[in-house]
Amino acid sequence: MAQDDNGGKDSVSSGQHVSHDALGASPGTAVIVRDAVQDPGLPPHRPRTTDINPKAEKRAERVVYTLFYLSLAGSIFAIAAYIAFPIIEGDSGSVRLNNMFVGLGMTLALLGLGVGAVHWGKALMHDHEGIDIRHPQPGTTEERAAAINVIDEANRESGFGRRTMIRNSLLGALIVFPLPAVVLFRGLAPMDQDPVALLKHTMWEKGTRLTHDPSGVPIKASDLTLGSSVQVIPEGLAELEHHKIEEKAKAAVLLMRLDPKDLNPLPGRETWAYDGIVAYSKVCTHVGCPVALYEQQKHHLLCPCHQSQFDVTNNCEVIFGPAKRALPQLPITVDSEGYLIAQSDFTEPVGPSFWERA
Ligand code: FES
Repeated sequence: MAQDDNGGKDSVSSGQHVSHDALGASPGTAVIVRDAVQDPGLPPHRPRTTDINPKAEKRAERVVYTLFYLSLAGSIFAIAAYIAFPIIEGDSGSVRLNNMFVGLGMTLALLGLGVGAVHWGKALMHDHEGIDIRHPQPGTTEERAAAINVIDEANRESGFGRRTMIRNSLLGALIVFPLPAVVLFRGLAPMDQDPVALLKHTMWEKGTRLTHDPSGVPIKASDLTLGSSVQVIPEGLAELEHHKIEEKAKAAVLLMRLDPKDLNPLPGRETWAYDGIVAYSKVCTHVGCPVALYEQQKHHLLCPCHQSQFDVTNNCEVIFGPAKRALPQLPITVDSEGYLIAQSDFTEPVGPSFWERA
């Protein structure tokens, strides 16, 4: 830039003349003025090969539906592998084989869907850019009609209705895709047992002693002082060789001693407590965290996961938080030696909802 000594003007690289006064600079000071960056706008639209070459379009279509069919095959492969390579208890080799082949199938299923969808969008769907203005809710009749037009247009542009091979392969892949997950969930329960029965029943049965967790020492009613709370497990759990963890997860119970006058049992539950001692499932009915904190003064149980609170004086009904059901109560009494025992199993499934317990 060259400084001008004529009339307070500077000559700048762009060829413009700018006054020192306008820039707030004192005469004799070098001033640099850059051209403002213009919005370059969108680059000119360049048609893709698939836009101008019907053969390339056909080829891309073939690639997309092949990928969707690969996804479908991957899902079926995952299910078949799960059955063909069962997990045998105590055999870590069988776990490796099962995980490897089921994982391979699911990877193929996910990749096929993902890559197919991306390729469809990039190579075959229209690629023009548009601006969607945000409207206040709810839309007017015209706006809703316009929305339907947009959906129709999307259908036209994506070719979802027209490209039947892509549509059918995608629908097939999406329908089969969740099945491996269903199979895997079934695998959480032993194959020779009914999973619903497993969810409905625990180790507790008539006469089972309540014991300290984890020592397994039986508890006498006289051991519990007013206001105390103890975590208990069923007698015999410690000796279990298999499924100890699963059984403990279902059967864990909290035992609390209150003043009997503070308890308001539901009709039919008047004999479920023993001298103010009540036992409730420790498994939160929201999503199954262990309910762990007992507020002795207010007689509230708190689940630390999402802060559900249960009122022990009122049958552990929910008084706060996302849980929807009261904690199931274990009916208890004492045996001839004064040890606390269960009167039966829980009369309802413990823990969160499942498909047979909404
Ligand atoms: S698991 Fe207890 S509140 Fe969510």
